[in-house]
Amino acid sequence: MADDSVYEWRAVKGFCLSGLFWGAVSVLIGLFISIQMWKPELNIGPFLTFGRLRAVHTNGLAFGFAVAEIFALSYYMVQRLTRRRLLFPKLAVVQLYIFNAAILVAALSLLAGFTKSKEYAELEWPLSIGVVILWVMFAVNIFGTIIKRKEEQMYITLWYLIATVIGVAVVYIVNNLSIPVSLTKSYSIYAGVNDANVEWWYGHNAVGFVFTTPILAMFYYFLPKSTGLPIFSHRLSIVAFWSLVFAYLWTGAHHLVYTPLPDWIQTVGIAFTMFLIAPSWGSVVNGYYTMGGNWDKMKSNYLTKFFIIGITFYGLQTLQGPTQGLRVVSQLVHYTDWVIGHVHMGTMGWVAMTVGASMYYVIPRIYDTEIYSIKLADTHFWLVLIGQLIFSISMWILGIQQGSMWKAISPDTGSLTYTFMEQVTANYPYWKVRTLGGAIFTVGLCVFAFNIVMTIVQAKKNQASAAAAGGR
Ligand code: HEM
Ligand code: HEM
Repeated sequence: MADDSVYEWRAVKGFCLSGLFWGAVSVLIGLFISIQMWKPELNIGPFLTFGRLRAVHTNGLAFGFAVAEIFALSYYMVQRLTRRRLLFPKLAVVQLYIFNAAILVAALSLLAGFTKSKEYAELEWPLSIGVVILWVMFAVNIFGTIIKRKEEQMYITLWYLIATVIGVAVVYIVNNLSIPVSLTKSYSIYAGVNDANVEWWYGHNAVGFVFTTPILAMFYYFLPKSTGLPIFSHRLSIVAFWSLVFAYLWTGAHHLVYTPLPDWIQTVGIAFTMFLIAPSWGSVVNGYYTMGGNWDKMKSNYLTKFFIIGITFYGLQTLQGPTQGLRVVSQLVHYTDWVIGHVHMGTMGWVAMTVGASMYYVIPRIYDTEIYSIKLADTHFWLVLIGQLIFSISMWILGIQQGSMWKAISPDTGSLTYTFMEQVTANYPYWKVRTLGGAIFTVGLCVFAFNIVMTIVQAKKNQASAAAAGGR
């Protein structure tokens, strides 16, 4: 702790708490829209309809939660790994204020119905420019600090952070290029199938460079830090890194299987998608081998289980994802809730677990205290794990049911076996189970937020009593 005064923790603290706040709001909205699916009368127009709230949920979690925590934890890791203070500490604090204002305006604009109608790129052009400005501020600090580093060795985490900064910038700018017709409306510069191709090139890489590379950066940093075990193979981590970033950018077309997109582009996308299993599992295996013979730490060290179960969901996710890309599987599960199950195993299992554990590691250190309650952290772990499993498994079963019902044809007449309404009402029991899973997850998240806030309160109390003792 001795030399901590040389580091810049204000922005780290601010982004940690901002992400927690926006994450909680967005998860509550997720819970609400999950109820709207089986209780449609809760759609209160025009502002509180599923269509508008869904975008607030996805953008709130991707930008408000994930990006805030990426800013926070990247600023923490980059200072530790370069052994120096952020190059522009004041810039990071300004970025924090602009970020929170932007997220608020973004949420209100989506509720008001302003949208570019492209998934994960809904925000209208003035806000997209805001996102770019915030990202440039982040890039300047990350690159500047790395260039001026005091530690020569570039640990793998720094490579993943560099990829995140460049990857997001490239795909975000290219996909959001649009022609404004008013302050609140713009049209994409691409048309038809080209627009869809660029959109899913972006969409898949948003997953790659928001929900994968920065989270792997955290995994590679915080797993060894919290267990005291060095990463199994630095070489394997580097090989997996370069092959991952090379392959990711070619795979977007797997979202457009059986669409008017030329067949050969779909095939190229699917081929690179299959290849992606190798670098993804390179990191999974590296994590498991890092544990070596020390699996007892799953019990004795409260953070280990978050990281190991988190990377296990990443491993499952990166087997399920490529499988979904195959034509034979896509024809059954595409457009069904199977994909929603896939999404939430990744986000609630891999992303939320890894980010949560990283915050448990960082918060006590930057506030110079201990975690408020390990028991509550354990409770948080089990609740989010059980909630996520109920959510994902119910959606996978439902997805197969939906796909099968849509395809069922009566052999005598050749007509569809089920009417549209028969198919919709058959979803209800599963959607109710999903709400149950979501509710359990939300309680887990509240326990987490409480634990974090109490840790900070405890730190402030300790400081106050230390100051009082010093004054005596
Ligand atoms: C090797 C890695 C992965 C591959 C190859 C992959 C593949 C796929 C495929 C093929 C789909 C489209 C399914 C369809 O619509 O029919 C999909 C959807 C999705 N995946 Fe993955 N996935 C991978 C990892 C991940 C991870 C780690 C996450 C997040 C944590 C994730 C989040 C998503 C999301 C959010 C969607 C839904 C996109 C949308 O339609 O809005 N994926 N994935
Ligand atoms: C209590 C927890 C949660 C609940 C109840 C919930 C609920 C939902 C619902 C109902 C949808 C719409 C599905 C549809 O269009 O049919 C959705 C979509 C989505 N959610 Fe969540 N969610 C939760 C947590 C999360 C978390 C933690 C994340 C990210 C960190 C997340 C990211 C997403 C994404 C990316 C989509 C779009 C999926 C797609 O279009 O394929 N959700 N969520």
